[in-house]
Amino acid sequence: MKINFNSKFSNDKGSLLFVCVKGKSLHKYLIDLDKKNSNYVSNAMKVVNFNYKENNQLDLILPKGSKADRIILVGIDEKNSSNDLDLGKLGSNITSILNTNKIKEISLVLEEKSFNVTQIAMILYGMSLNTYRFNKYFSDKKKIRANFIEKINLYCENHNKISKEWKRFNAIKEGVFLTRDLVSEPANNLTPLLLSKEAIKLRKVGLKVEQLDEKKLKELKMGALLGVAQGSANKPYVVTLEWRGNKTKKTMDYTFVGKGVTFDTGGISIKPSGGMEEMKYDMGGSAVVLGLMKTLALRKTKANVSAVVGLVENMPSGTAQRPGDVVKSMSGQTIEVINTDAEGRLVLADILWYAQKKFKPNKIVDLATLTGAIIVSIGQEKAGMFSNNANFADEVTKLGIKVGEEVWNMPVDDSYEKDISSDIADMKNVGSGRGAGSTAGAIFLKRFIKNTIWMHLDIAGVTWAKADRPMTPKGGSGYGVRLLDELVFSNFE
Ligand code: BES
Ligand code: MN
Ligand code: ZN
Repeated sequence: MKINFNSKFSNDKGSLLFVCVKGKSLHKYLIDLDKKNSNYVSNAMKVVNFNYKENNQLDLILPKGSKADRIILVGIDEKNSSNDLDLGKLGSNITSILNTNKIKEISLVLEEKSFNVTQIAMILYGMSLNTYRFNKYFSDKKKIRANFIEKINLYCENHNKISKEWKRFNAIKEGVFLTRDLVSEPANNLTPLLLSKEAIKLRKVGLKVEQLDEKKLKELKMGALLGVAQGSANKPYVVTLEWRGNKTKKTMDYTFVGKGVTFDTGGISIKPSGGMEEMKYDMGGSAVVLGLMKTLALRKTKANVSAVVGLVENMPSGTAQRPGDVVKSMSGQTIEVINTDAEGRLVLADILWYAQKKFKPNKIVDLATLTGAIIVSIGQEKAGMFSNNANFADEVTKLGIKVGEEVWNMPVDDSYEKDISSDIADMKNVGSGRGAGSTAGAIFLKRFIKNTIWMHLDIAGVTWAKADRPMTPKGGSGYGVRLLDELVFSNFE
């Protein structure tokens, strides 16, 4: 979807005018058009009792010789259009209307007095997020879920400011689309090696990217990660990414860490076959981290940010690790692997440790499709959030509400520590009881955090949308990119 920013309304003969109406005062373009057509528009609005409410729509074919052939008016509820999220949803709705009508190009008119620059950018953001499709594997192009809208001609007076603001949101969109692409890709075409190559491609946006192969991981003594990888013919990789927006400052503001299990069969503790195909998105955490780093680099953040992703495949085989095996993590702590399906935490144990050692960040945030239990707890509306710092948890909770990628604060205090004590090693990789499964995972991760402000986001429920949602066509959601971009933005820009 291409967007042109214009200040003067011109060249519209034959085009479609799409107008968002908020409040009862009409835009001057519309008033002008109305006058020239003997009140055709305002009459029609009266006839249908156009009530300026959300989703109230009026589709008009204009008389021959008018400045535009057709106008679609959409009413916006004044009460529900104050926050970013509502505006994003409005944009998303516009895309749906255009696609239903198979419309390729529009002239978009927004009531400028009603929206500030960021709000207009949010509408465009919502529109573009809803254009995402993952169609690459259809050979019959008739079967694809088409996206028709190609070009938006936006008319607004302060178009310079808006196009500047759009640059940031466009960067977010690019990051979200990368995340969605990666999450949607089947595991045969996205092995750890191939995913590491996708990360390396991000060098072209200015990121410093390093790829660590199995030999290097062995040197680093990442025994927990390597234990997961040993059952697969596809070799493991760890990739680090780095962006220094402030070169005069030596410190690292944030390091983002992502679980990248390119396929999770469960290993020897094998999963039931029904629904197992979903485990292609078990690299969702790493996909968010890559999308986010792309966004931050594209918009040239002033913060110092870095990332580590752990890429492995969890397979059952003659070389796979067994339940009961004891592995030694890079930190030196030993782990009894009770269940080979609790593999994400084993991968994260080593890369969290490595990330702190390499980057010494002020704050570390990990993202992982870690537990099915988080879906049992809070469903697919929010991510589970676990943190060792209450202020940080508060901050992210508020940002989540603002941008519509919500988190829910979950417990990870010491009272749960005993749950993962092992009879023969420093810890075991699952909890003892049947309760608090997501917290057991978080408590395990916490053992690999050393004096760093830390947050773990369990995104198992939010990574994949089972049905269409506003701004998120069904499939990979890209959840997390916008939230964490906002975290960096609100602190450093
Ligand atoms: N990748 C899964 C978690 C998951 C479940 C992600 C559903 C997305 C959707 C994870 O590796 C896993 O298998 N977790 C186990 C942990 C258990 C063995 C303690 C689970 O949730 O059952
Ligand atoms: Mn698993
Ligand atoms: Zn997993």
